[in-house]
Amino acid sequence: MTEVVVVKNKAQASRIVSDLLVKSILKNPKLVLGLATGSTPLEVYKMLASSVKKQGIDVSGVRGFALDEYVALPKGHHESYHFVINSTVVQPIGLTPENAHVPSGDASTIQRAGAEYEELIKASGGVDVQILGIGTDGHIGFNEPGSSLASRTRIKTLTEQTRLNNAQFFSSIDEVPSHAITQGIGTILEARHLVLMAFGSAKAKAVANTLEGPVCAFCPASALQLHPHATVFVDQDAATELQNIDYYKWSYENKPSWQEL
Ligand code: PGA
Repeated sequence: MTEVVVVKNKAQASRIVSDLLVKSILKNPKLVLGLATGSTPLEVYKMLASSVKKQGIDVSGVRGFALDEYVALPKGHHESYHFVINSTVVQPIGLTPENAHVPSGDASTIQRAGAEYEELIKASGGVDVQILGIGTDGHIGFNEPGSSLASRTRIKTLTEQTRLNNAQFFSSIDEVPSHAITQGIGTILEARHLVLMAFGSAKAKAVANTLEGPVCAFCPASALQLHPHATVFVDQDAATELQNIDYYKWSYENKPSWQEL
């Protein structure tokens, strides 16, 4: 099942996830990381960068694959995920730039960009740890409600809600692109360990639908229920609509030491 960890706050979850990544890199210096953008994982990346520096960890062989990219936003735009992944992950952590991949949102090649990205992920041996945020509508990556649970990397039309949520990063909603290229749900499910984080009351409904609702395309994140190794970190506010919260808390507090994250 999906392991649910109810944390005090984002900092606590970010520390646990950052420590998990450190441990995974030390075990496998060629780790393949699945990278989410958005505000949720930023603290994880900062903590990881700081641990890498303090402990002198060699990350030159670590590979990274972003989940998604806007279509037709120039790579140099401060909100393009090429730019964001470079400034929040590659530079601070010190990854080798050629090892960090973001799907191409170039409109002229968009028809083949999905298949090419899938090939690149496959050639790397597949994603070991996939970091995920979640949209208020239950999307992961840019897989909006209705996305096929078998989908692969492809173009998606963004919902008005997603464009509104992301307008905070642009000067106005009119600047938010209408389309994105995103790893599909089928692609994401192939990662060996899924780690989803959700903080704040705006995510409570999506979290409940993800963990305790039916597996359905209307809540794309509910596909996590099909994955053999998924871990979901939620703060108290994001956990308010969970029915089984006492069980999740008890299970985590009484977790045997031999049972890893
Ligand atoms: P957020 O976005 O991390 O900025 O909340 C998550 C998402 O929309 O997938």
